[in-house]
Amino acid sequence: MHRRGFLAASLATVLASPRALAQMKMDDMSNMPGMDHAGHDMGAMGQGPVALPQNQPLRELPLLANEAAGPGLFKARLTAESATARFAADRDTPILAYNGISPGPLIETQEGDRVEITFSNRIEGEPSTIHWHGMPVPADQDGNPMDPVAAGADRVYAFELPEGSAGSYWYHPHPHGRTAEQVYRGLAGAFLVKAKADPIPAAYGDTTLFLTDLRLAADGSMPENTMTDMMNGRVGDQVLVNGQKNPRLAVAMGTKRRLRLYNATNARFLRLAFVNAAMTVIGSDGGLLEAPVATDEILLSPAERVELVVAFDKPGTAILTTLDYDRGWMGPGRPEDKGLALLTADVSDTQAEPMPPLPERLRPIARFGQPTVSRRLVFTETMAMKPTGMEMGFLINGMAFDMGRVDIVARAGDTELWEIVNQADMDHPFHLHGTQFQLIERERDGKVSKPPYLAWKDTVNVARGETVRLVTRQERPGTRMYHCHILEHEQLGMMGVVDVQA
Ligand code: C2O
Ligand code: CU
Ligand code: CU
Repeated sequence: MHRRGFLAASLATVLASPRALAQMKMDDMSNMPGMDHAGHDMGAMGQGPVALPQNQPLRELPLLANEAAGPGLFKARLTAESATARFAADRDTPILAYNGISPGPLIETQEGDRVEITFSNRIEGEPSTIHWHGMPVPADQDGNPMDPVAAGADRVYAFELPEGSAGSYWYHPHPHGRTAEQVYRGLAGAFLVKAKADPIPAAYGDTTLFLTDLRLAADGSMPENTMTDMMNGRVGDQVLVNGQKNPRLAVAMGTKRRLRLYNATNARFLRLAFVNAAMTVIGSDGGLLEAPVATDEILLSPAERVELVVAFDKPGTAILTTLDYDRGWMGPGRPEDKGLALLTADVSDTQAEPMPPLPERLRPIARFGQPTVSRRLVFTETMAMKPTGMEMGFLINGMAFDMGRVDIVARAGDTELWEIVNQADMDHPFHLHGTQFQLIERERDGKVSKPPYLAWKDTVNVARGETVRLVTRQERPGTRMYHCHILEHEQLGMMGVVDVQA
């Protein structure tokens, strides 16, 4: 039987039979609930998702205060703890928060800074870590699952931000077996490294839009992951921007704004368009492109970021919205992808002060030379009926993650070609820790295509049936992770370890 058919049939069996479900055997699924939320599409059950207030003025993310006295040092504290949020007007939602808020405070630093952040894990009964997603930090400061911070404990993360590292990074927990849950409960924030000489006109501002998604039960609580969530990754009922549903932004006609968009959802693919405004891509995960590129739409898979300049040249309403995207959904309950209004701009008909133009060149990006090593990672999904029950796996080269196993031994400074082969039925966004890479090409059904522009990336979507080739180099020795950034897939095994030797 065709693999997809087999998976669909197996899944149908699972979903139809509470008995099979009860027998289902999966690692790290200690809290699997019954079938009551199976298709989290509450609409199908007669009650829509809990209504959230909309159209409030967009709030900027609060900054993490720098406690250092002089320049060149960023010193602060991040405490992870239980907190309460008010998403819906009349009910409380228990969440996990950094310094009491979700998304966590915005960290703003400059290239060349030294960073010292004291992390206090006050999550009851759970280890955690802080991982600095995309950043060139030493391996022992990168919040690997092998370096947990126990509940009640503190640790200092310290690193230097090299020259040239300006970019839109983020931070989130990475404890073994608990990353997906700690993130969807609220632990994630943006980490900006600003350039000393930034070519983007200051008049455009610099606004971070941190996209998360949310599912609330009728009582305001966040339901636990269901079977469908474990399979596809958790997709909520609402997409929020800086914690708000469809907030509003007032701009004068002719305004240009610099916007940094983060896909900080566990598993939602965001194909974005800006109705009535013009988008120009100026940067990616690891900072600015060489030159601006005008675009009509952007696919932002989980964990990816994009930096845009948006020109509001038409009076009226401009809406950041989603388009349809088929990422290979398994089973029932496929969420609606298109037509979500994420942010609404009210463009006045009085003309803004004339804005300086965007420069034609942003910065040089040196292309990697010829790789001296090549690697091949094959992503598969398996689902098999075993005498003990149904077993589902998300595998790389046929293996599920094992913290005690080294999958790849590499040498610091070597230029490597990584070929990521997706033989599965779902898209999987591939992420590598500790460095940035350059996408070389994509291949699907024998057709090879080159990326439209050169960019520094740490996460790239590998569509089902697709092969992605990228070139990368680890500059520092130590243990690094690579994984699918659908966090439920990472948790179910789609992760590996690279040991970078000096
Ligand atoms: Cu956002 Cu292992 O990473
Ligand atoms: Cu990462
Ligand atoms: Cu995946």
